[in-house]
Amino acid sequence: STAPARVVINLDLPGPTISRHLYGHFAEHLGRCVYGGFWVGEDSPLPHTNGIRTDVVEALKALRIPNLRWPGGCFADDYHWRDGIGPREQRPRTVNSHWGDVVEDNAFGTHEFMTLCELLGADPYVSGNVGSGTVREMSEWIEYLTRGDDSPMATLRRANGRDEPWKVPFWGLGNEAWGCGGNLRGDAFADLARQYATYVRDHGGNRVYRIAAGANADDYHWTESLMKALGQVEKSSNPVFQALSFHYYTMSGDWQDKGDATSFSDDEYYRTIAQAYRVEEMLTRHSTVMDRRDPHKRIGLVLDEWGTWWNVEEGTNPGFLYQQNTMRDALVASLHFDAFHRHADRLVMANIAQTVNVLQAMILTDPATGALVLTPTYHVFEMNTGHHDAASLEAHVIDDRRFEDVPLLSASASTTGESALISLSNLDAGQARPVVLDLRGQDVSGYGARILTSGSLHDHNDPSRPNTVRPRPHEGVSRHEKGLIVDLPAHSYVTVSLEL
Ligand code: AHR
Repeated sequence: STAPARVVINLDLPGPTISRHLYGHFAEHLGRCVYGGFWVGEDSPLPHTNGIRTDVVEALKALRIPNLRWPGGCFADDYHWRDGIGPREQRPRTVNSHWGDVVEDNAFGTHEFMTLCELLGADPYVSGNVGSGTVREMSEWIEYLTRGDDSPMATLRRANGRDEPWKVPFWGLGNEAWGCGGNLRGDAFADLARQYATYVRDHGGNRVYRIAAGANADDYHWTESLMKALGQVEKSSNPVFQALSFHYYTMSGDWQDKGDATSFSDDEYYRTIAQAYRVEEMLTRHSTVMDRRDPHKRIGLVLDEWGTWWNVEEGTNPGFLYQQNTMRDALVASLHFDAFHRHADRLVMANIAQTVNVLQAMILTDPATGALVLTPTYHVFEMNTGHHDAASLEAHVIDDRRFEDVPLLSASASTTGESALISLSNLDAGQARPVVLDLRGQDVSGYGARILTSGSLHDHNDPSRPNTVRPRPHEGVSRHEKGLIVDLPAHSYVTVSLEL
Protein backbone atom coordinates (compact mmCIF):
# COMPACT_ATOMS: atom_id res chain seq x y z
CA SER A 1 0.00 0.00 0.00
CA THR A 2 1.08 3.60 -0.40
CA ALA A 3 -0.92 4.81 2.62
CA PRO A 4 1.39 7.07 4.59
CA ALA A 5 3.43 5.62 7.39
CA ARG A 6 3.46 7.63 10.61
CA VAL A 7 6.31 8.72 12.85
CA VAL A 8 5.17 10.21 16.15
CA ILE A 9 7.61 12.49 17.98
CA ASN A 10 7.08 14.36 21.25
CA LEU A 11 9.33 17.33 20.64
CA ASP A 12 9.13 18.45 24.27
CA LEU A 13 10.35 15.19 25.84
CA PRO A 14 14.13 15.19 25.42
CA GLY A 15 15.94 11.99 26.36
CA PRO A 16 19.63 11.21 26.91
CA THR A 17 22.25 13.22 25.03
CA ILE A 18 23.55 11.70 21.81
CA SER A 19 27.28 12.03 22.35
CA ARG A 20 29.12 13.38 19.33
CA HIS A 21 31.52 10.50 19.99
CA LEU A 22 28.95 8.13 18.46
CA TYR A 23 30.22 9.63 15.19
CA GLY A 24 33.83 8.59 15.84
CA HIS A 25 36.33 7.25 13.32
CA PHE A 26 39.03 4.64 12.97
CA ALA A 27 42.34 4.71 11.09
CA GLU A 28 44.47 1.57 11.11
CA HIS A 29 47.81 0.80 9.55
CA LEU A 30 45.97 -1.30 7.01
CA GLY A 31 46.12 -1.12 3.23
CA ARG A 32 45.84 2.50 2.09
CA CYS A 33 44.10 4.00 5.11
CA VAL A 34 47.13 5.58 6.78
CA TYR A 35 49.71 5.27 3.99
CA GLY A 36 48.34 6.86 0.82
CA GLY A 37 45.09 7.84 2.53
CA PHE A 38 45.99 10.22 5.32
CA TRP A 39 49.75 10.17 4.98
CA VAL A 40 51.60 10.96 1.75
CA GLY A 41 54.88 12.08 3.30
CA GLU A 42 56.70 15.37 3.20
CA ASP A 43 58.08 14.83 -0.31
CA SER A 44 54.68 14.27 -1.91
CA PRO A 45 53.64 16.43 -4.88
CA LEU A 46 50.10 16.40 -3.45
CA PRO A 47 49.26 19.36 -1.19
CA HIS A 48 49.96 18.35 2.40
CA THR A 49 50.64 19.66 5.88
CA ASN A 50 53.71 17.99 7.36
CA GLY A 51 53.03 14.96 5.14
CA ILE A 52 49.28 14.75 5.83
CA ARG A 53 47.00 15.14 2.78
CA THR A 54 45.28 18.51 2.81
CA ASP A 55 42.27 17.51 0.69
CA VAL A 56 41.48 14.53 2.93
CA VAL A 57 41.62 16.66 6.07
CA GLU A 58 39.55 19.43 4.47
CA ALA A 59 36.87 16.99 3.30
CA LEU A 60 36.67 15.41 6.74
CA LYS A 61 36.24 18.73 8.51
CA ALA A 62 32.63 18.87 7.34
CA LEU A 63 32.01 15.69 9.38
CA ARG A 64 33.27 17.28 12.59
CA ILE A 65 35.09 14.07 13.49
CA PRO A 66 34.92 13.89 17.27
CA ASN A 67 37.57 11.23 17.85
CA LEU A 68 39.96 9.07 15.87
CA ARG A 69 41.02 5.58 16.92
CA TRP A 70 44.55 4.49 15.98
CA PRO A 71 46.83 2.52 15.23
CA GLY A 72 44.48 -0.51 15.02
CA GLY A 73 42.62 -2.91 15.06
CA CYS A 74 44.69 -6.04 14.95
CA PHE A 75 47.72 -3.91 14.11
CA ALA A 76 47.57 -2.28 17.55
CA ASP A 77 48.52 -5.51 19.32
CA ASP A 78 51.59 -5.83 17.10
CA TYR A 79 52.58 -2.18 17.37
CA HIS A 80 55.49 -0.99 19.48
CA TRP A 81 55.25 2.77 19.76
CA ARG A 82 58.97 3.39 20.14
CA ASP A 83 59.38 2.20 16.53
CA GLY A 84 57.41 5.27 15.42
CA ILE A 85 59.25 8.17 17.09
CA GLY A 86 62.44 10.07 16.34
CA PRO A 87 63.95 10.96 12.94
CA ARG A 88 61.99 9.13 10.28
CA GLU A 89 65.03 7.86 8.40
CA GLN A 90 66.24 6.14 11.56
CA ARG A 91 62.98 4.39 12.40
CA PRO A 92 63.13 0.60 12.15
CA ARG A 93 61.27 -1.30 9.47
CA THR A 94 58.83 -3.87 10.81
CA VAL A 95 56.28 -6.27 9.32
CA ASN A 96 52.54 -5.70 9.19
CA SER A 97 51.71 -9.37 9.49
CA HIS A 98 47.93 -8.94 9.66
CA TRP A 99 47.42 -6.74 6.66
CA GLY A 100 49.11 -7.88 3.46
CA ASP A 101 52.32 -8.95 5.23
CA VAL A 102 53.88 -5.72 3.97
CA VAL A 103 56.86 -3.88 5.40
CA GLU A 104 55.91 -1.00 7.68
CA ASP A 105 58.46 1.79 7.64
CA ASN A 106 56.98 3.50 10.68
CA ALA A 107 56.92 6.88 8.93
CA PHE A 108 53.55 7.55 10.53
CA GLY A 109 53.96 7.31 14.30
CA THR A 110 52.88 9.02 17.49
CA HIS A 111 53.77 12.60 16.51
CA GLU A 112 52.22 12.26 13.05
CA PHE A 113 49.03 10.86 14.54
CA MET A 114 48.75 13.66 17.07
CA THR A 115 49.28 16.22 14.28
CA LEU A 116 46.52 14.56 12.27
CA CYS A 117 44.15 14.79 15.25
CA GLU A 118 45.01 18.46 15.66
CA LEU A 119 44.34 19.14 11.97
CA LEU A 120 40.99 17.35 12.17
CA GLY A 121 40.05 18.84 15.53
CA ALA A 122 39.46 15.25 16.72
CA ASP A 123 40.19 13.75 20.13
CA PRO A 124 42.82 11.01 19.96
CA TYR A 125 41.76 7.49 20.89
CA VAL A 126 44.98 5.49 21.20
CA SER A 127 44.71 1.71 21.12
CA GLY A 128 47.39 0.25 23.38
CA ASN A 129 49.15 -3.07 22.82
CA VAL A 130 48.11 -5.78 25.27
CA GLY A 131 48.59 -8.75 22.91
CA SER A 132 52.36 -8.52 22.40
CA GLY A 133 53.36 -5.45 24.39
CA THR A 134 54.29 -5.02 28.00
CA VAL A 135 52.70 -3.13 30.84
CA ARG A 136 55.78 -0.96 31.02
CA GLU A 137 55.59 -0.12 27.31
CA MET A 138 52.00 1.00 27.63
CA SER A 139 52.69 2.95 30.78
CA GLU A 140 55.60 4.77 29.13
CA TRP A 141 53.52 5.62 26.06
CA ILE A 142 50.89 7.52 28.03
CA GLU A 143 53.67 9.23 29.98
CA TYR A 144 55.36 10.21 26.71
CA LEU A 145 52.14 11.65 25.35
CA THR A 146 50.69 13.44 28.32
CA ARG A 147 53.31 14.34 30.93
CA GLY A 148 54.44 17.93 31.33
CA ASP A 149 57.49 17.92 33.61
CA ASP A 150 60.98 16.53 33.06
CA SER A 151 60.11 12.86 33.57
CA PRO A 152 62.10 10.46 31.36
CA MET A 153 59.35 10.07 28.76
CA ALA A 154 58.46 13.78 28.70
CA THR A 155 62.13 14.51 28.13
CA LEU A 156 62.26 12.01 25.28
CA ARG A 157 59.21 13.65 23.67
CA ARG A 158 60.87 17.05 23.88
CA ALA A 159 64.01 15.64 22.29
CA ASN A 160 61.74 14.57 19.41
CA GLY A 161 60.51 18.10 18.93
CA ARG A 162 57.32 18.39 20.97
CA ASP A 163 57.51 20.51 24.07
CA GLU A 164 53.93 20.65 25.34
CA PRO A 165 52.22 17.46 26.45
CA TRP A 166 49.19 16.44 24.44
CA LYS A 167 45.76 15.59 25.78
CA VAL A 168 44.74 11.98 25.23
CA PRO A 169 41.21 11.48 26.52
CA PHE A 170 40.60 7.92 25.22
CA TRP A 171 42.74 4.83 25.63
CA GLY A 172 42.07 1.31 24.37
CA LEU A 173 43.30 -1.70 26.32
CA GLY A 174 44.01 -4.19 23.53
CA ASN A 175 41.85 -5.14 20.56
CA GLU A 176 39.83 -8.27 19.82
CA ALA A 177 41.66 -10.10 22.59
CA TRP A 178 39.51 -13.16 21.80
CA GLY A 179 41.17 -13.30 18.33
CA CYS A 180 44.06 -11.40 16.75
CA GLY A 181 44.77 -9.68 20.07
CA GLY A 182 46.02 -12.80 21.82
CA ASN A 183 43.41 -15.57 21.47
CA LEU A 184 42.56 -15.16 25.13
CA ARG A 185 39.57 -16.34 27.06
CA GLY A 186 37.28 -13.77 28.64
CA ASP A 187 38.29 -14.14 32.28
CA ALA A 188 42.01 -14.21 31.47
CA PHE A 189 41.72 -11.04 29.41
CA ALA A 190 39.58 -9.35 32.06
CA ASP A 191 42.46 -9.73 34.53
CA LEU A 192 44.92 -8.33 32.00
CA ALA A 193 42.61 -5.39 31.32
CA ARG A 194 42.61 -4.60 35.06
CA GLN A 195 46.38 -4.85 35.22
CA TYR A 196 47.15 -2.74 32.14
CA ALA A 197 44.52 -0.15 33.07
CA THR A 198 46.27 0.36 36.40
CA TYR A 199 49.40 1.62 34.66
CA VAL A 200 47.64 3.86 32.13
CA ARG A 201 47.98 6.79 34.50
CA ASP A 202 46.44 10.22 34.60
CA HIS A 203 49.44 12.54 34.24
CA GLY A 204 49.08 16.22 35.04
CA GLY A 205 45.64 17.42 33.99
CA ASN A 206 45.06 14.59 31.52
CA ARG A 207 42.12 12.35 32.43
CA VAL A 208 42.06 9.06 30.56
CA TYR A 209 38.92 7.10 29.74
CA ARG A 210 40.11 3.48 29.58
CA ILE A 211 38.26 1.15 27.21
CA ALA A 212 38.78 -2.61 27.59
CA ALA A 213 38.74 -4.66 24.38
CA GLY A 214 35.33 -6.21 24.20
CA ALA A 215 33.19 -8.82 22.60
CA ASN A 216 32.93 -10.19 19.13
CA ALA A 217 29.41 -9.19 18.05
CA ASP A 218 26.91 -11.15 20.17
CA ASP A 219 29.37 -12.77 22.59
CA TYR A 220 27.57 -11.67 25.77
CA HIS A 221 29.76 -13.97 27.89
CA TRP A 222 32.75 -11.76 27.09
CA THR A 223 30.90 -8.71 28.35
CA GLU A 224 29.89 -10.67 31.44
CA SER A 225 33.57 -11.59 32.08
CA LEU A 226 34.63 -7.94 31.92
CA MET A 227 31.76 -6.80 34.13
CA LYS A 228 32.47 -9.57 36.63
CA ALA A 229 36.05 -8.33 36.81
CA LEU A 230 34.77 -4.88 37.77
CA GLY A 231 32.46 -6.20 40.48
CA GLN A 232 29.39 -4.28 41.59
CA VAL A 233 29.70 -0.72 40.28
CA GLU A 234 28.16 1.84 42.61
CA LYS A 235 27.57 5.52 41.93
CA SER A 236 30.65 6.34 43.97
CA SER A 237 32.88 3.54 42.59
CA ASN A 238 36.12 4.34 40.87
CA PRO A 239 36.33 1.50 38.32
CA VAL A 240 39.79 0.50 37.07
CA PHE A 241 38.58 0.81 33.46
CA GLN A 242 35.69 3.00 32.47
CA ALA A 243 34.26 1.32 29.39
CA LEU A 244 34.22 -1.85 27.35
CA SER A 245 33.77 -2.27 23.65
CA PHE A 246 32.38 -4.68 21.09
CA HIS A 247 32.76 -5.01 17.33
CA TYR A 248 30.10 -5.79 14.77
CA TYR A 249 30.38 -5.89 10.99
CA THR A 250 27.57 -6.11 8.43
CA MET A 251 27.82 -8.37 5.38
CA SER A 252 25.32 -10.13 3.12
CA GLY A 253 27.16 -13.45 3.11
CA ASP A 254 29.46 -15.17 5.58
CA TRP A 255 33.14 -14.61 6.51
CA GLN A 256 34.32 -16.77 3.60
CA ASP A 257 32.23 -14.97 0.98
CA LYS A 258 31.03 -11.69 2.36
CA GLY A 259 29.24 -10.45 -0.75
CA ASP A 260 30.14 -7.98 -3.47
CA ALA A 261 30.20 -4.26 -2.73
CA THR A 262 28.49 -3.07 -5.92
CA SER A 263 26.81 -6.03 -7.54
CA PHE A 264 24.08 -7.58 -5.42
CA SER A 265 20.53 -8.85 -5.80
CA ASP A 266 17.50 -7.43 -3.99
CA ASP A 267 17.62 -10.48 -1.82
CA GLU A 268 21.23 -9.77 -0.82
CA TYR A 269 20.28 -6.16 -0.22
CA TYR A 270 17.53 -7.13 2.22
CA ARG A 271 19.80 -9.65 3.88
CA THR A 272 22.29 -6.83 4.43
CA ILE A 273 19.62 -4.63 5.95
CA ALA A 274 18.50 -7.47 8.23
CA GLN A 275 22.12 -7.90 9.36
CA ALA A 276 22.49 -4.16 9.99
CA TYR A 277 19.36 -4.20 12.15
CA ARG A 278 21.04 -6.80 14.39
CA VAL A 279 23.19 -4.09 15.92
CA GLU A 280 20.16 -2.92 17.87
CA GLU A 281 19.70 -6.31 19.48
CA MET A 282 23.39 -6.37 20.41
CA LEU A 283 23.27 -2.91 21.93
CA THR A 284 20.26 -3.94 23.99
CA ARG A 285 21.69 -7.25 25.15
CA HIS A 286 25.22 -6.02 25.98
CA SER A 287 23.57 -3.19 27.94
CA THR A 288 21.34 -5.66 29.78
CA VAL A 289 24.38 -7.70 30.83
CA MET A 290 26.03 -4.49 32.04
CA ASP A 291 22.91 -3.28 33.89
CA ARG A 292 23.12 -6.16 36.35
CA ARG A 293 26.38 -5.00 37.94
CA ASP A 294 26.20 -1.40 36.84
CA PRO A 295 22.61 -0.19 37.27
CA HIS A 296 23.68 3.46 37.29
CA LYS A 297 25.36 3.15 33.86
CA ARG A 298 28.76 4.31 35.07
CA ILE A 299 30.53 1.99 32.61
CA GLY A 300 30.30 2.99 28.97
CA LEU A 301 29.65 0.73 26.01
CA VAL A 302 31.80 1.48 22.95
CA LEU A 303 31.22 0.02 19.48
CA ASP A 304 34.69 0.83 18.21
CA GLU A 305 34.45 -1.08 14.94
CA TRP A 306 31.31 -1.23 12.82
CA GLY A 307 30.28 -1.04 9.19
CA THR A 308 29.99 -3.11 6.04
CA TRP A 309 32.65 -5.64 5.12
CA TRP A 310 32.53 -6.84 1.49
CA ASN A 311 34.83 -8.94 -0.66
CA VAL A 312 37.73 -6.75 -1.78
CA GLU A 313 37.53 -5.04 -5.19
CA GLU A 314 38.90 -7.20 -7.98
CA GLY A 315 42.58 -6.66 -8.66
CA THR A 316 43.32 -5.19 -5.22
CA ASN A 317 45.44 -6.77 -2.49
CA PRO A 318 43.17 -9.09 -0.44
CA GLY A 319 44.94 -7.93 2.72
CA PHE A 320 44.11 -4.27 2.06
CA LEU A 321 40.32 -4.50 2.49
CA TYR A 322 39.55 -1.94 -0.21
CA GLN A 323 35.87 -1.86 -1.18
CA GLN A 324 33.44 0.41 -3.05
CA ASN A 325 30.54 2.05 -1.27
CA THR A 326 26.99 2.36 -2.64
CA MET A 327 23.62 3.72 -1.62
CA ARG A 328 23.19 0.40 0.25
CA ASP A 329 26.17 1.29 2.48
CA ALA A 330 24.59 4.69 3.15
CA LEU A 331 21.41 2.99 4.42
CA VAL A 332 23.43 0.60 6.58
CA ALA A 333 25.04 3.67 8.17
CA SER A 334 21.74 5.51 8.71
CA LEU A 335 20.23 2.40 10.35
CA HIS A 336 23.18 2.16 12.72
CA PHE A 337 22.83 5.79 13.71
CA ASP A 338 19.11 5.36 14.43
CA ALA A 339 19.99 2.48 16.75
CA PHE A 340 22.86 4.45 18.35
CA HIS A 341 20.53 7.36 19.10
CA ARG A 342 18.10 5.03 20.86
CA HIS A 343 20.91 3.67 23.05
CA ALA A 344 22.48 7.01 23.91
CA ASP A 345 22.11 6.25 27.63
CA ARG A 346 24.69 3.45 27.50
CA LEU A 347 26.53 3.78 24.21
CA VAL A 348 29.20 6.43 24.69
CA MET A 349 31.26 6.02 21.54
CA ALA A 350 31.25 4.32 18.15
CA ASN A 351 33.88 4.20 15.41
CA ILE A 352 33.20 3.32 11.82
CA ALA A 353 35.75 1.03 10.18
CA GLN A 354 37.51 2.82 8.57
CA THR A 355 37.83 6.45 7.53
CA VAL A 356 39.80 6.26 4.25
CA ASN A 357 40.24 3.47 1.64
CA VAL A 358 39.43 0.59 4.01
CA LEU A 359 36.06 -1.16 4.51
CA GLN A 360 33.10 1.26 4.80
CA ALA A 361 35.15 4.36 4.08
CA MET A 362 34.14 8.02 3.92
CA ILE A 363 36.80 8.75 1.33
CA LEU A 364 38.34 6.70 -1.45
CA THR A 365 41.53 7.84 -3.13
CA ASP A 366 42.89 6.68 -6.46
CA PRO A 367 46.40 5.24 -5.96
CA ALA A 368 47.48 6.25 -9.48
CA THR A 369 46.20 9.82 -9.73
CA GLY A 370 45.55 10.69 -6.11
CA ALA A 371 41.96 11.74 -7.03
CA LEU A 372 39.61 11.72 -4.07
CA VAL A 373 35.92 10.83 -3.93
CA LEU A 374 33.41 11.14 -1.14
CA THR A 375 31.29 8.03 -0.61
CA PRO A 376 27.55 7.80 0.08
CA THR A 377 28.51 6.92 3.67
CA TYR A 378 30.40 10.21 3.98
CA HIS A 379 27.20 12.03 3.13
CA VAL A 380 25.18 10.27 5.84
CA PHE A 381 27.78 11.32 8.43
CA GLU A 382 27.63 14.89 7.15
CA MET A 383 23.81 14.99 7.08
CA ASN A 384 23.75 13.78 10.70
CA THR A 385 26.12 16.31 12.24
CA GLY A 386 23.08 18.07 13.74
CA HIS A 387 22.58 15.07 16.05
CA HIS A 388 26.00 15.55 17.69
CA ASP A 389 25.49 16.32 21.39
CA ALA A 390 21.76 16.96 20.90
CA ALA A 391 19.14 15.35 23.16
CA SER A 392 17.57 12.22 21.72
CA LEU A 393 13.85 12.20 21.04
CA GLU A 394 11.84 9.01 20.76
CA ALA A 395 10.56 8.50 17.22
CA HIS A 396 7.67 6.01 17.21
CA VAL A 397 7.37 4.43 13.78
CA ILE A 398 3.89 3.22 12.90
CA ASP A 399 4.21 1.23 9.70
CA ASP A 400 3.42 -2.35 8.84
CA ARG A 401 5.50 -2.64 5.70
CA ARG A 402 8.08 -5.43 5.88
CA PHE A 403 10.27 -7.46 3.57
CA GLU A 404 9.87 -10.83 5.22
CA ASP A 405 10.37 -9.59 8.79
CA VAL A 406 12.59 -6.59 7.95
CA PRO A 407 10.86 -3.26 8.76
CA LEU A 408 11.14 -0.94 5.77
CA LEU A 409 11.12 2.39 7.57
CA SER A 410 13.63 3.51 10.17
CA ALA A 411 13.67 6.84 12.00
CA SER A 412 15.30 8.72 14.85
CA ALA A 413 15.32 12.30 16.10
CA SER A 414 17.03 14.77 18.38
CA THR A 415 16.51 18.27 19.69
CA THR A 416 18.60 21.17 20.91
CA GLY A 417 15.53 23.01 22.21
CA GLU A 418 15.66 25.57 19.38
CA SER A 419 15.85 23.09 16.55
CA ALA A 420 15.23 19.40 15.92
CA LEU A 421 16.62 16.96 13.38
CA ILE A 422 14.69 13.93 12.14
CA SER A 423 16.35 11.11 10.20
CA LEU A 424 14.22 8.92 7.93
CA SER A 425 15.37 5.88 5.95
CA ASN A 426 13.09 4.28 3.37
CA LEU A 427 14.66 0.84 3.10
CA ASP A 428 12.28 -0.36 0.41
CA ALA A 429 14.42 -1.19 -2.62
CA GLY A 430 11.72 -0.33 -5.13
CA GLN A 431 8.84 1.61 -3.64
CA ALA A 432 8.41 5.25 -2.63
CA ARG A 433 6.57 6.07 0.57
CA PRO A 434 4.87 9.11 2.08
CA VAL A 435 5.45 9.52 5.82
CA VAL A 436 3.43 11.73 8.16
CA LEU A 437 5.53 13.29 10.89
CA ASP A 438 3.12 13.56 13.78
CA LEU A 439 4.85 16.30 15.76
CA ARG A 440 3.64 17.00 19.27
CA GLY A 441 4.50 19.20 22.20
CA GLN A 442 6.12 22.16 20.45
CA ASP A 443 5.23 24.41 17.52
CA VAL A 444 7.28 24.12 14.37
CA SER A 445 8.03 27.56 12.99
CA GLY A 446 10.04 26.46 9.99
CA TYR A 447 11.40 23.37 8.29
CA GLY A 448 13.82 22.21 5.62
CA ALA A 449 14.88 18.83 4.29
CA ARG A 450 17.74 17.12 2.47
CA ILE A 451 17.76 13.85 0.60
CA LEU A 452 20.38 11.28 -0.29
CA THR A 453 19.27 8.83 -2.97
CA SER A 454 20.11 7.70 -6.46
CA GLY A 455 18.50 5.95 -9.42
CA SER A 456 19.87 2.58 -8.30
CA LEU A 457 20.84 1.10 -4.96
CA HIS A 458 24.08 0.04 -6.66
CA ASP A 459 25.09 3.60 -7.52
CA HIS A 460 28.39 4.79 -6.16
CA ASN A 461 30.94 7.53 -6.71
CA ASP A 462 34.25 7.19 -8.50
CA PRO A 463 36.73 9.69 -9.93
CA SER A 464 34.94 9.79 -13.31
CA ARG A 465 31.53 10.35 -11.65
CA PRO A 466 32.23 11.72 -8.19
CA ASN A 467 28.72 13.12 -7.59
CA THR A 468 26.43 10.26 -8.60
CA VAL A 469 25.29 9.90 -4.99
CA ARG A 470 25.20 13.16 -3.11
CA PRO A 471 22.71 15.04 -0.93
CA ARG A 472 20.31 17.53 -2.42
CA PRO A 473 17.63 19.80 -0.98
CA HIS A 474 14.39 17.83 -0.68
CA GLU A 475 11.27 19.58 -1.95
CA GLY A 476 8.92 16.75 -1.04
CA VAL A 477 7.90 18.06 2.37
CA SER A 478 4.75 20.02 3.22
CA ARG A 479 2.57 20.94 6.15
CA HIS A 480 0.01 18.39 7.29
CA GLU A 481 -2.70 18.59 9.94
CA LYS A 482 -0.50 16.45 12.23
CA GLY A 483 2.74 18.26 11.43
CA LEU A 484 4.50 17.50 8.16
CA ILE A 485 4.21 15.00 5.36
CA VAL A 486 7.40 13.81 3.67
CA ASP A 487 7.80 11.89 0.40
CA LEU A 488 10.43 9.22 0.70
CA PRO A 489 11.56 7.83 -2.68
CA ALA A 490 12.65 4.19 -2.83
CA HIS A 491 15.98 3.52 -1.06
CA SER A 492 16.39 7.04 0.23
CA TYR A 493 17.74 8.78 3.28
CA VAL A 494 16.12 12.08 4.30
CA THR A 495 16.87 14.48 7.11
CA VAL A 496 14.22 17.00 8.12
CA SER A 497 15.31 19.94 10.24
CA LEU A 498 12.78 21.85 12.28
CA GLU A 499 12.95 25.32 13.74
CA LEU A 500 11.13 25.32 17.06
O1 AHR B 1 38.89 -3.17 10.74
C1 AHR B 1 39.60 -4.26 10.27
C2 AHR B 1 39.90 -5.31 11.33
O2 AHR B 1 38.70 -5.88 11.76
C3 AHR B 1 40.52 -4.80 12.60
O3 AHR B 1 41.89 -4.70 12.53
C4 AHR B 1 40.16 -5.87 13.59
O4 AHR B 1 40.06 -5.38 14.89
C5 AHR B 1 38.86 -6.43 13.05
O5 AHR B 1 38.86 -7.79 13.00
